[in-house]
Amino acid sequence: STYQHILTETRGKVALVTLNRPKALNALCNDLFVEVNDAMKNFDDDENIGAIVLTGSEKAFAAGADIKEMKDNNFVDTYKKDFLGHWAKISDVKKPIIAAVNGYALGGGCELAMSCDIIYAGEKAVFGQPEINLGIIPGAGGTQRLVRAVGKSRAMEMVLGGGANLTATEAQSLGLVSKVVPADQLIDEAVKTASKIASKSQASVQMGKELINKSFEVPLSAGLRWERAYFQALFGTADQKEGMGAFAEKRKPNFTNN
Ligand code: HXC
Repeated sequence: STYQHILTETRGKVALVTLNRPKALNALCNDLFVEVNDAMKNFDDDENIGAIVLTGSEKAFAAGADIKEMKDNNFVDTYKKDFLGHWAKISDVKKPIIAAVNGYALGGGCELAMSCDIIYAGEKAVFGQPEINLGIIPGAGGTQRLVRAVGKSRAMEMVLGGGANLTATEAQSLGLVSKVVPADQLIDEAVKTASKIASKSQASVQMGKELINKSFEVPLSAGLRWERAYFQALFGTADQKEGMGAFAEKRKPNFTNN
């Protein structure tokens, strides 16, 4: 690929996007994020891909937004140009994204992981929101997604105190992370789960993702109504006929994404 700050590869139906700015601990400079968005969009559009894994290095998933790049920014420019607004684009990706986090996931790095759909952590992963130490606050979900994942009290400690970082096991016990594995097995484990997801019917996977994310946005009654409508809609797919037909015939389904 022609990317400067990331690496991309495919493993079967899984795309792997690796943040690759090791000297800066994968600090999320503007160009890096533009590349992540571009890669995500391409894989989202690629019929042969069913799920995406996003990872960093063993030392750092990402140590945050690039402090050196933004330190001289002023308010009017950040506002007019909607500084970091493009970070939200990752939420438009319809295919599931698994964040495989080794090492530091700090500030924007923690927020990027939380923008993904599943988080797996290596044993030495560290999650934190140290922005307050820089005279700012989190800007991409640290005050919103984190509280939903770890609860109000811990989120307040992390965001207001700039410490109280989560270890991998703490993150798991609080629900931010769903699996902790040895660092060197992390990517394989994430790819394994992604492959499993990628073997299902894409329409049902994408609807499931959309609806779970919707549960954070809309009242329960509206979410339940959306769920039922999508559930009903899936009876219009060939894959529903295949899935239920295979069960009745005691064989494995072969989904064709139709
Ligand atoms: C720019 C960074 C960086 C960052 C590390 N580096 N984090 N550069 N932005 N966020 C650079 C260092 O300057 C250094 O460059 C190199 O990476 C290695 O880092 P060290 O500090 O030497 O490594 P170490 O001593 O191991 O400490 C690791 C660390 C520390 C604890 C992760 O680097 C650190 O505290 N980083 C900042 C974490 C942070 O505050 N993140 C929040 C950023 S604000 P040189 O050139 O000296 O080798 C943010 C806002 C989000 O994320 C808003 C989102 C919308």
